[in-house]
Amino acid sequence: YWGLETKRIGRPIRFFETVDSTQKIAHELAANGAEEGTIVLADEQTMGRGRLSRGWHSKKGKGIWMSLIIRPDIAVQKAPQFTLLAAVGVAGAIEDVAGLSPKIKWPNDLLIEGKKVCGILTEMVSQENRVLAIIIGIGINVNHRPGDFPDALKDKATSLAIHAGKEIPRAKLVQSFCLKFERLYDTYLKAGFLPVKTLWETYACSIGQRIEARMVQGTIRGKALGIDEEGVLLLQDDSGRIHHIYSADIEIEKD
Ligand code: BTN
Repeated sequence: YWGLETKRIGRPIRFFETVDSTQKIAHELAANGAEEGTIVLADEQTMGRGRLSRGWHSKKGKGIWMSLIIRPDIAVQKAPQFTLLAAVGVAGAIEDVAGLSPKIKWPNDLLIEGKKVCGILTEMVSQENRVLAIIIGIGINVNHRPGDFPDALKDKATSLAIHAGKEIPRAKLVQSFCLKFERLYDTYLKAGFLPVKTLWETYACSIGQRIEARMVQGTIRGKALGIDEEGVLLLQDDSGRIHHIYSADIEIEKD
């Protein structure tokens, strides 16, 4: 029982102790007609997946490893907006429950004091340019102590408990996220992406800064100007040219 106050999001929540990947299970459920709002949640993942074919460290009992299925009737080009929408939902839930102020690094990382506390992986199932399902995978490092992270992540990752100085109740975080996401999603369906963009900007940490965007096609360095009305990152290189970045790995340059 998760104390949910939502109508659709988190109804149902399918909880597993150990899975390979909640994302994989959510894909299977979505293919079998799972309804919008369904969440797959696990205490541990043995094969957690990150973006760009990376793995995702998902230690037992320490985090929130979940995948949310939604079915908006939108064109496939708009699906990446849900990464931003989910990021705003998680940021709000973290403020609410842990009393911390995370920043969002476009498109999908939540940072606290420059270290990653949450990653989001948005995938979709589509047909003829329309979305059939979006599967939003969310990994939040909640109750890790510094020693719980593998060596390779020590400098890059952090948890809510490390910054809050106490354990954070995971069920409350899930509950708060569901409510915030549902409200944002309703706003999105009524009024489009613009109100979500405005909120997203209040959390953004990379905007106005010099960044490096690494893509399959190559790397572009320049100043992050902001996101456009679709959620696409606008990056101005040193010659003044503005690039529209749909997907990339972002490094904020240190000066
Ligand atoms: C990233 O930053 O690379 C995205 C990480 C997404 C991790 C979550 S944990 C729950 C869901 N299941 C997975 O296998 N991955 C996502």
